[in-house]
Amino acid sequence: MKSKHKVLILPGDGIGPEVCHEATRLLSHINESLGLGISLEECSVGGIAYEEYGTPLPDATLAAAREADAILLGAVGGPTWDDIEYDLRPERALLSLRSELDLFANLRPAILSTHLSSCSSLKPEKVQDLNLLIVRELTGGIYFGEPRGRSEDDNTAFNTMVYSKKEIERIGRVAFEAAIKRNKRLCSVDKANVLEVSVLWREVMSNLSLEYPEVKLSHMLVDNAAMQLVRDPKQFDVIVTGNLFGDILSDIAAMLTGSIGMLPSASLNSKNNGMYEPVHGSAPDIAGKGIANPIAAIQSVAMMLRYSLNLNDAASVIENAIESVLSEGYRTYDLEGEGGEKLKTSEMGDKILERLELER
Ligand code: NAD
Ligand code: IPM
Ligand code: MN
Repeated sequence: MKSKHKVLILPGDGIGPEVCHEATRLLSHINESLGLGISLEECSVGGIAYEEYGTPLPDATLAAAREADAILLGAVGGPTWDDIEYDLRPERALLSLRSELDLFANLRPAILSTHLSSCSSLKPEKVQDLNLLIVRELTGGIYFGEPRGRSEDDNTAFNTMVYSKKEIERIGRVAFEAAIKRNKRLCSVDKANVLEVSVLWREVMSNLSLEYPEVKLSHMLVDNAAMQLVRDPKQFDVIVTGNLFGDILSDIAAMLTGSIGMLPSASLNSKNNGMYEPVHGSAPDIAGKGIANPIAAIQSVAMMLRYSLNLNDAASVIENAIESVLSEGYRTYDLEGEGGEKLKTSEMGDKILERLELER
């Protein structure tokens, strides 16, 4: 069959390949059963690519990424590469992919499965039915600002937090549009009491809100937002924030849903090409043990089907299968709470695959 959608798989390092394997197995199975016309290609990225090619992002990988309609990335990085030259670190590959493909809009939904309330780090009543969306700006801010580096005498290091009105406005629009489709509440998180860049951020968001009168915009300082997320997370519907704050707040939000192993993400450009990745990293402490939770990676495939490939039904099939497995009490080791049998990575993949309800 002629391929309609090109998907690139970038397994990366640590548990990246372990969770990617399960997610890819599932995607292939759905692709074949439903005749979705997806072609899959795999390339090397991160530390493993550095070992083989001397760079964490080989040209062939970047070229394949540009060609793809969507990318699934596992994770990059690990202690082996922590001390190598800054520009050759595995994490640089991820940042370059985001920037080269202009994937400025990072969507990180934190949704608590009804079956996992006891696994959240908060009391069940605080998180019951939690469904919040973090919209993180992904190609600007302090991650990419210039200048960055060291002083000549090596006694000082610096990064620059910079945002243009244009960059703030485009991520703002994504967040307002997302809020319209949800509960119409948007909280913009910044540090406007200290940072000039946040004062601009707040101004642009406020101006933009005039175009979206149906959305109730509020502003919150990031330190308070971190506290509010663990005090009363259900007050939030959509959160929009810059690159660094979004990184930190999304790891906090992950734990509310039971584990960092549960949180998927989509990183989109203006054409809805996307890179999809679990929010977690390469988890060096458990890599190679076969116990990583593959659900965030599998949920990322569901997001890919929905956002980049327009295959909503196939996405729902995956999400329903995950719910069904959780409802039967199956858990991975990271999910600490009530529940029955603990499964290894591949066993969880098998269970989800078995529960797929596929009708052509
Ligand atoms: P991490 O997310 O890899 O791990 C934090 C903790 O969560 C660890 O105890 C780990 O075992 C656990 N964990 C994470 N994912 C899990 C899963 N799927 N199932 C079960 N447990 C899971 O964060 P870290 O330890 O700070 O970072 C490790 C490396 O990963 C670093 O090199 C970092 O730069 C990199 N990293 C990469 C990405 C990415 O590629 N997108 C994201 C974050 C961190
Ligand atoms: C994430 C990761 C990355 C980030 C790192 C690995 C560059 O933590 O995707 O959350 O900080 O964006
Ligand atoms: Mn992170």
